[in-house]
Amino acid sequence: MASVIALQSARAGFPAGKLGGTAECCASPLCLICAGGGALFFCPGGCIRHWQPFLIEVKDKMKQALENIRQTAAELLAKADSEAALEELRVRFLGKKGEVTAILKQMGKLSAEERPLIGALANEVRSEIDEEIRRRSKELADAALNARLAAETIDVTLPGTPVAQGKRHPFQQVLDELKQIFLGMGFEVKAGPEVELDHYNFEMLNMPKSHPARDTQDTFYITENVLLRTQTSPMQIRTMEAQKPPIRIICPGRVYRSDAVDATHSPIFHQIEGLVVDEGITFTDLKGTLEAFIKKLYGENTRVRFRPHHFPYTEPSAEMDMSCFKCGGKGCPMCKGEGWIEILGCGMVHPKVLENCGIDSERYTGFAFGIGLERIAMMRYGIDDMRLLYENDLRFLKQF
Ligand code: DAH
Repeated sequence: MASVIALQSARAGFPAGKLGGTAECCASPLCLICAGGGALFFCPGGCIRHWQPFLIEVKDKMKQALENIRQTAAELLAKADSEAALEELRVRFLGKKGEVTAILKQMGKLSAEERPLIGALANEVRSEIDEEIRRRSKELADAALNARLAAETIDVTLPGTPVAQGKRHPFQQVLDELKQIFLGMGFEVKAGPEVELDHYNFEMLNMPKSHPARDTQDTFYITENVLLRTQTSPMQIRTMEAQKPPIRIICPGRVYRSDAVDATHSPIFHQIEGLVVDEGITFTDLKGTLEAFIKKLYGENTRVRFRPHHFPYTEPSAEMDMSCFKCGGKGCPMCKGEGWIEILGCGMVHPKVLENCGIDSERYTGFAFGIGLERIAMMRYGIDDMRLLYENDLRFLKQF
């Protein structure tokens, strides 16, 4: 071995003795002196001259490699035409197993003086690539956006697509108006069940099972004692059971009867029930309230008249007519030449009904009324066939 060292030392122009006696050369493949296989960085001879050429070469090699990376990256990045391609290049150069990272991992092979130089170069290359990736990414995004903007040009001068505007159904319009009138007179608006007990729909309203008035209100039965309500009047009972006078309510809602459909009949229609109970309520209150209501709805010149009638739950009972809004009372096809139009049923609450609900009929009196909403809407808008209100034909509904 000593001769080998001597030979190599001689080739490099170093005296063999410098390697020291029997010491072996580090024998690095990069070493210009020994140029043979052996452990890197290990020179048992401790001769710095053996290291020098090796260190210079590693540094140069790393420098060269970084420059190559810088150039290749620049070329490839300039050609990358998608985010995916950019990401691929980012992984290739800057990723954990990337080329720049691989160089950085070899920093330990450098001398303390060389390390900062190569380190600085590596960082420079790394941030250059990083910046270029960002710049290209923005460039690609901008180009994509511009392409989209160019493709999706909107002509703001074109007329827009009109939005179809909905409207409240004529029923709803009339009902809202009617509610406002009664709310203005201090009434409360209530709602009740459409599936009702026979007990409330008939019994408590003075119409026991055998009562002939039931015949005019045949309905749909769920069971013998549960039915679809034929009128909103059961809400009188439900209200009086739940609250003590003073009571002032209206209750609009759907009602049912087993009637065949024609221009003036429907198995489903709408009513508005009204009830006032307090001390000292008289028929005059009934007349005044209903007249005020009808004048608000149809105009101050409207006149009303009351005809005696019979309802099992009011005593006395009446039907109220109003002067024809079309002819003013002269007689026309709308009022069938009579000048009057029947508008609602009403009366003073029967003392027995009050007592049924636990209200002292000696102390309290009240009046009640029931209005057909269809009738009001039809007269309001001059509609001559009830079916039109249910068919939801937009050509019809759009007129109101
Ligand atoms: N419930 C009656 C009907 O459906 C209308 C009615 C008449 C209601 C007189 C009332 C009333 O409250 O007092 O024909």
